[in-house]
Amino acid sequence: MLDGKKVLFSGMQATGNLTLGNYLGALKNWVSIAEEYETFYSVVDMHSITVRQDPAELRRRARTLLTLYIAAGLDPEKNCIYYQSHVSGHAELAWILNCFTYMGELNRMTQFKDKAAKHADNINAGLFTYPVLMAADILLYQSDVVPVGIDQMQHLELTRDIAQRFNGIYGDVFTIPEAYIGKVGAKIMSLQDPAKKMSKSDENPNGSIYLMDDPDTIVRKFKRAVTDSEGCVRYSQEQPGIRNLIDIYCACTGKTPAETEREFDGRGYGDFKMAVGEAVVSVLKPLQDRFADLSKNKDYLDGMIRANTEKAQYYSNKTLRKVQKKVGFPERIR
Ligand code: TYM
Repeated sequence: MLDGKKVLFSGMQATGNLTLGNYLGALKNWVSIAEEYETFYSVVDMHSITVRQDPAELRRRARTLLTLYIAAGLDPEKNCIYYQSHVSGHAELAWILNCFTYMGELNRMTQFKDKAAKHADNINAGLFTYPVLMAADILLYQSDVVPVGIDQMQHLELTRDIAQRFNGIYGDVFTIPEAYIGKVGAKIMSLQDPAKKMSKSDENPNGSIYLMDDPDTIVRKFKRAVTDSEGCVRYSQEQPGIRNLIDIYCACTGKTPAETEREFDGRGYGDFKMAVGEAVVSVLKPLQDRFADLSKNKDYLDGMIRANTEKAQYYSNKTLRKVQKKVGFPERIR
């Protein structure tokens, strides 16, 4: 608890271009529940270098991502929005937690296996211990709630295991966090292959809607979305392409799958795809406009980053000092 409110932490990697999956699975929920919590939203740039990055590009993307958090509706006066690399507690706690995490646990992480297969020439130790840094992010703020998409559930389970193990040895040090998974949009699939999740790193740009795609591109990508030959808009496991489009439509309009089925009863896929494209445009266009406005306001953003970094440092240090004391590091002499 912080100032009588439960604590919420979440983050996104500044890698690649943000997709509609990131927005509907995470960012949109961040905004809708922010008021209820004391929140920390980090641009997790330290996670990004587990895969080789172009430095100038990483810096640019990190700034873009931070600006997008605000453009999506998170007020930086009320929400602590900051860069992970500006708050040294993340790395310091991660080191300690590394000593409380087993190789066997990390070996089971599916994201590690996927990324190791994708980047076979650079299977570095950071990629392996990535989930420990994520646990540190969350535990550093004594977070109660972590809104994420389904793909991050395994990392969250590990975070809970590490926290429980640590508490088991040293007493109640960490709050045990819970995942918050949105009712719709928790797993948005590729438009070109509905068996695969929509991903920033997809080689086929037609599979993903990027948050910065212009309206024509968005509509065109939906027109080309892979569906089936059933010819009816039905929310079923047998029609994964249509099901994914219904999920997207519902997440953007607030309608239910049953309402959507009724709305498009007897109408063809062409009509439906067009409606999904338009629904997405009506959500993304205002976000893009706010992003353009905010980007012009460098002084405002810089001032906000400075203030929020201090706030994150202050709260993270509280936990860090407690943990350091517990594990037996010498007290600091003032
Ligand atoms: P990242 O950057 O891959 O994704 C950011 C968020 O977007 C969600 N997401 C999706 N949701 C629905 N459908 C999709 N196709 C889709 N793709 C991505 C992710 O679940 C995530 O919530 N390891 C994390 C970043 C991280 C983090 C943290 C998150 C680092 N530390 C602490 C929460 C708490 C990651 O790589 O997310």
